Amino acid sequence: MPFMKLIITDDYQESCRVAAEMIRDLIAEKPNAKLGLATGGTPVPIYKNLIEMNQHGEIDFSEVRTVNLDEYIGLDGSHPQSYRYFMDTNLFDHININKANTYVASGIGNAVQNAAILDAKVIENGVPDLQLLGIGNNGHIAFNEAGDHLVACSHIEHLTQSTIDANARFFESKDEVPTTAITMGMRGILSSKMPLLVATGAAKADAIRGLLTNEEITTQNPSTFLKLHSNAVVIIDRELATLVGI
Ligand code: GLP
Repeated sequence: MPFMKLIITDDYQESCRVAAEMIRDLIAEKPNAKLGLATGGTPVPIYKNLIEMNQHGEIDFSEVRTVNLDEYIGLDGSHPQSYRYFMDTNLFDHININKANTYVASGIGNAVQNAAILDAKVIENGVPDLQLLGIGNNGHIAFNEAGDHLVACSHIEHLTQSTIDANARFFESKDEVPTTAITMGMRGILSSKMPLLVATGAAKADAIRGLLTNEEITTQNPSTFLKLHSNAVVIIDRELATLVGI
């Protein structure tokens, strides 16, 4: 697979450590690095590693800037399932970052305007040096859903049933999962200097197979567009690699 760098680790814990070390090294080199950040279950241990590194004086976040991929429409940042709340509680509240330098799209107010603001934030003072990514079971990245087309700019996305079902585990019931979200578009993701996708678990096998085992790009698996990037990195564990057949 030309261009894309694949790292296969012993296990998910190691994947998360390796990802955190890449972020640590980037910030050491560029103290005011701009990070594109992701939510979902996958990055949580990455953030735990970053918190520990910060507490041990291995990373200084004081000049770091961040922009997040997406936010549910209808959830205020104080809602426990909002992505702003997720970022605060899983990372920002525990590190020496200036929260004024962090951006998560607003889920309330005018969604079209909020999406436009997100697009502006992606390029404000330079594009992200690194864009952390998880992957949905259907290959979605951020909330760019699998379907017959993708959208370049940040936009409002109607979530697929597969995504609603997968994310229901974070809510009291499936009915509470918002059905729409604001997401960074494919251009924003691909404009980062280094997209860094981390995946684990059997549910991701089909999507990762599509990403790693052929040269096809398809809107039915949005992650495959990372094949167009000259500096993308994918980290998976041995268990997932075996399931994928690599
Ligand atoms: C959500 C997020 C994605 C994330 C995906 C997978 O849909 N918008 O950014 O990659 O979930 O999440 P998980 O890591 O919990 O499997």
